[in-house]
Amino acid sequence: MANQLYIFDTTLRDGEQVPGCKLNTNEKILVAKALEELGVDIIEAGFPISSPGDFNSVQEISKATSIPIICALTRAVEKDIDVAADSLKYAKRKRIHTGIGTSYLHIYHKLMSTEEKVLERAVHAVKYAKKYVEDVEFYAEDAGRTDNEYLARVIEAVIAAGATVINIPDTTGYCLPEMYGAKIKYLMENVRGIERAILSTHCHNDLGMATANSVMGIINGARQVEVTINGIGERAGNTSLEEVVMTFKSHKNYGIETNINTKRIYETSRLVSNLMNMPVQPNKAIVGRNAFAHSSGIHQDGVLKLRENYEIIDPVEVGVQESSILLTARSGRAALKHRLRILGYTITDDQVDIVYQQFLELADTKKDITDEDLEKLVGQVDANKIQIKLASLKVTTGKDLEPFATVHLDISGEIIEASAAGVGGIDAALNAIRSVINRNEIIDEIMIQSFSRTSLALGKVHVQLKDEGGKVHHGFSAHEDLITAAIEAYLDAINKIQHVDVAIIESKRV
Ligand code: KIV
Ligand code: ZN
Repeated sequence: MANQLYIFDTTLRDGEQVPGCKLNTNEKILVAKALEELGVDIIEAGFPISSPGDFNSVQEISKATSIPIICALTRAVEKDIDVAADSLKYAKRKRIHTGIGTSYLHIYHKLMSTEEKVLERAVHAVKYAKKYVEDVEFYAEDAGRTDNEYLARVIEAVIAAGATVINIPDTTGYCLPEMYGAKIKYLMENVRGIERAILSTHCHNDLGMATANSVMGIINGARQVEVTINGIGERAGNTSLEEVVMTFKSHKNYGIETNINTKRIYETSRLVSNLMNMPVQPNKAIVGRNAFAHSSGIHQDGVLKLRENYEIIDPVEVGVQESSILLTARSGRAALKHRLRILGYTITDDQVDIVYQQFLELADTKKDITDEDLEKLVGQVDANKIQIKLASLKVTTGKDLEPFATVHLDISGEIIEASAAGVGGIDAALNAIRSVINRNEIIDEIMIQSFSRTSLALGKVHVQLKDEGGKVHHGFSAHEDLITAAIEAYLDAINKIQHVDVAIIESKRV
């Protein structure tokens, strides 16, 4: 059996059915391009008959992408298939996904039909779709609750009619992993012609089993998995892409390979979450805020000795920069020392003892201890440390204007004014600062992120400084004005360097 697992992403179809998560066409294109870069094999781009907006999105996604197969959903209805085929006209590689309910409930209480009529409609839909495209996927809706013998009969017939992929949806999230795995095994062993098609899993998470069921389906022979980013989808959601991919990356003994560039997982997760206004639960596997965060003293000590003591996945593998050590009342000295080192403080063991006692007292009154809290605590030990704050900033810039900045810095209570020109607004403000303080660190990187879809975006800036010894110092800030955020982040990094020896070159007391 081939071990390539095809990743069929339905974030833009099943995922987008979540109330309040509707995306416009431009946003869908952004997600589709991110999915292409992530390496998904198939993008289910929409259900074209459902609305002109969905039709348009499938068409635009078809134009905007070139590597993945673009798939459009239909019911087993000729008109649906005509419209889907039309929406896919610009796709370089295309698939129609058609199907019908096969469980007793769906046949008799939704379709008001019979087993024989449903089988006929299934075969007809596949043959009809084949007129337009070679690649036709058939779904047996509510397959999770469908009698296996009847399911096998339908699948045999649609493969004979030309279906290339067979989707076995657990539409209501009813199955247990053992049942779902056994269903796939039964189909692999009892459907004549199964070697001419690929079985696909499509599991919903109503009992929290979506990933487990998909994994059991794959172990038993399915070679396509239908997933969404962050597991979003109807009701309790769909199987999450990141969980399945990282399961098989973590258990190499199954030999299952995917085309996913796992280092892009975190970024894609955040893009989908931001665009859909759908926060990721903090304890979500792989992409949750706490997925690589350690808060108990025992775990922190273990992770700092060897990451693998408490982590089965290297966060870098999924695009998360590093594990985080959260400072809480349960943290030990090792975690405190580690955080202080990252902030640029190398204090003696005696100083750590003092700071640790103060830290514990503070941690009893506060849930999380921030870097700023630590700065204050360490400030009590290191009385010589100078703090530089941005008191005010004025920048003039524009088309055909030389950018010029005037800053007022509050250097441990004394206000200093400086002005300078620069290549852009940020450069001008930095030049002004450098004209009054003498620092040797070079700016290694400035990362600017903007959140929100409106002009009221909040800019988040991360500045990385490198000192002469190659040591890196980080600074962060967030502000509605990107230049202010960048300058505050720069000063934040400067302030974190221990014993800041600020030489004021040329100053003007205000
Ligand atoms: O859950 C389901 O059954 C579906 C089908 C339409 C594929 O989403
Ligand atoms: Zn579904």
